[in-house]
Amino acid sequence: MLNRGTKLKAWHVPQKYPIVVPDMFLVSVSVALVLLFRKNDAKPWNRFVSLVQFDPRREFRNGTDLIWQIPDSPKAVLFLAHGYGLRAVDFWERSIERPECVGLPEDRLLVLHALARKFAVLTISSAGKCWTFEKERLVVEDIITWWVKKHNLGKLPLVALGASSEDYPPTLFVHMPKDTSRKWKITNFMGVLRSKGVDVAEIECMELPLSPTFLSDRIRGFDQTVSGRGFVDENGYMKQDGRVTPWKDALRDSKINLLEKDLMHPVDEDLNLAFAYHEMTSLQSDEIFKWFESHMN
Ligand SMILES: *[C@@H]1O[C@H](CO)[C@@H](O)[C@H](O)[C@H]1NC(C)=O
Repeated sequence: MLNRGTKLKAWHVPQKYPIVVPDMFLVSVSVALVLLFRKNDAKPWNRFVSLVQFDPRREFRNGTDLIWQIPDSPKAVLFLAHGYGLRAVDFWERSIERPECVGLPEDRLLVLHALARKFAVLTISSAGKCWTFEKERLVVEDIITWWVKKHNLGKLPLVALGASSEDYPPTLFVHMPKDTSRKWKITNFMGVLRSKGVDVAEIECMELPLSPTFLSDRIRGFDQTVSGRGFVDENGYMKQDGRVTPWKDALRDSKINLLEKDLMHPVDEDLNLAFAYHEMTSLQSDEIFKWFESHMN
């Protein structure tokens, strides 16, 4: 079960453009403390309220769907590749106009960060659960090229997050070192890229204690505080990955009624984030986008 995160095969994104590979995420003690002590202000989307409104467009092409949003005066194009088993709709806020969208907490926050920094955001669904090398790589390249041209964005830098690339553009690995086999691969891969003169960097993402407000601070529509009793250790850290934690039973015991289907996947994602083994993260967005911006000239 431990394979839902970003499990992307490499593909061609046009050369030279920087890529971020999020394997996931880091958090400093200060962020953890902020999460613990700043209850309502801690909701990370609040900083975007006056900056960004979700207003995505959706279209079908080449047997898949693409969802995008272009801010006023965009300065770059960001192609966001979803993780294993997810779809383009997982990045975008659910609304009356877009009831099909899911808006998973971390994925959605990445989009907000991007739009606030004036990146045009393009998301595409993979054909199967996982991205594949052969024809799909061409389809995605085709869609991106067509879309960029159609929206007159061809002069802007194009960056990608969530995918790797065969052509070794500058690459930032955002990973969770607790996943030691992946950490080992990334360390080796970075060595290989460096030896080819490629600009590489990494951000290591560490586990987070599960404060009572950790979930309500990160998931819209989730307003309860949660005791991690039963699935956190004496220091408040998750004992196991969210995917194998019987959190539904624990929450049911505490009589919290959040078992509506809509909240299951978001809770799962953020418990995985707290465990820091393999999950999407938005916590490093500022560093990620600064890195993109420093590589766009
Ligand atoms: C994608 O669709 C367009 C328009 O229908 C078509 O021209 C193009 O060849 C397709 N690309 C691939 C890789 O199948």
